[in-house]
Amino acid sequence: MNNGCFILAIESSCDDTSVAVSHNDNILANIISSQHIHEVYGGVVPELASRAHLQQITQVCHTAIKKANISLSHIHAIAYTRGPGLLGSLLVGSSFAKALSVALGVPLIEVNHLEAHVLAHFIANQYESKPDFPMLCLTVSGGHTQLIKVENEYEFKLLGQTIDDAAGEAFDKAAKIIGLPYPGGALIEKLALQGNPNKFELANPRIPELNFSFSGLKTSFLYLVNKHQQKDPEFIKNNQADLAASMQRAIIKHLMGKAKLALEETGPYRSVALAGGVSANQALRKNMDELAQQFGLKSYAPKMEYCTDNAAMIAIAAWYKFQKQQFCELSAPTLARMPVKST
Ligand code: KG4
Ligand code: ZN
Repeated sequence: MNNGCFILAIESSCDDTSVAVSHNDNILANIISSQHIHEVYGGVVPELASRAHLQQITQVCHTAIKKANISLSHIHAIAYTRGPGLLGSLLVGSSFAKALSVALGVPLIEVNHLEAHVLAHFIANQYESKPDFPMLCLTVSGGHTQLIKVENEYEFKLLGQTIDDAAGEAFDKAAKIIGLPYPGGALIEKLALQGNPNKFELANPRIPELNFSFSGLKTSFLYLVNKHQQKDPEFIKNNQADLAASMQRAIIKHLMGKAKLALEETGPYRSVALAGGVSANQALRKNMDELAQQFGLKSYAPKMEYCTDNAAMIAIAAWYKFQKQQFCELSAPTLARMPVKST
């Protein structure tokens, strides 16, 4: 431990094959191979995702080790995403991780993907100083939307989550409705820059407590588009930017409303943070910064490469477990559903 700890981490829960090498809380390599095969289907096809992971994982691992400029014999532990995610995809990463741990004779560390998104904030050299606890984290990705009270690096309390679609799905489905390819979140953001966010009014989802719901918003967006299309076949083409801006505004409004409620009702907090793929969205970051300011708090959003799915976040989560010698058995099954640890 005196010379630090090298961890090789693997992430394969959805459609990104990623391998990272870390030294304590520093990331030496974070290689991500994204699968483009799903674009034509408008969403991730699980069977195709696992096959693509199988094709990519060895090469991605070699590249990570080379980039980190170490050899496998330096590695102290192997970490992997145990869940939640697509079972076939998780199985590729977990089997690869288990085989490596046996071959190298080093311990195995299982990581919860959602806790890893939160802990991405604690990767070294991102901020002047790391976020203070307790931290309110809004995790927004293609598969998840959660508000989490983070007491410290080991204690997470789930405050609320989506009861249907995730925020990223709402972006992706809206993108599909206005003719953009999958995944459309970043494209909506780009279009929204030239649009009027107040042009179309979409109903703010009504859902109790700190939970979220995006399926009604998607349906109201679909009805709005269909209604206008019937009268004007060129409607989408002529209003694409305004539609994108209005939908983005509605999604962010719902997210911020719940984040504000969490700050009011479950505090006090010492920092707020965004995590997950949707936190790449600059308008969301700006809104979160403003909300944090209202409460006199600092707001954090990870570097882009640590926002979307990546193995660096698995490595940092594993580093905290390594320090407490929290290792797992080879027999640990992968879990399609795996809640954040509740305290
Ligand atoms: O965290 P992530 O890579 O994968 C999951 O765990 O789901 O998140 C992917 C999601 C997709 O829905 C994608 O459209 C969305 O993040 N996304 C964005 C932006 N960049 C990625 N949504 C809005 N604005 C963006 N700039
Ligand atoms: Zn994710």
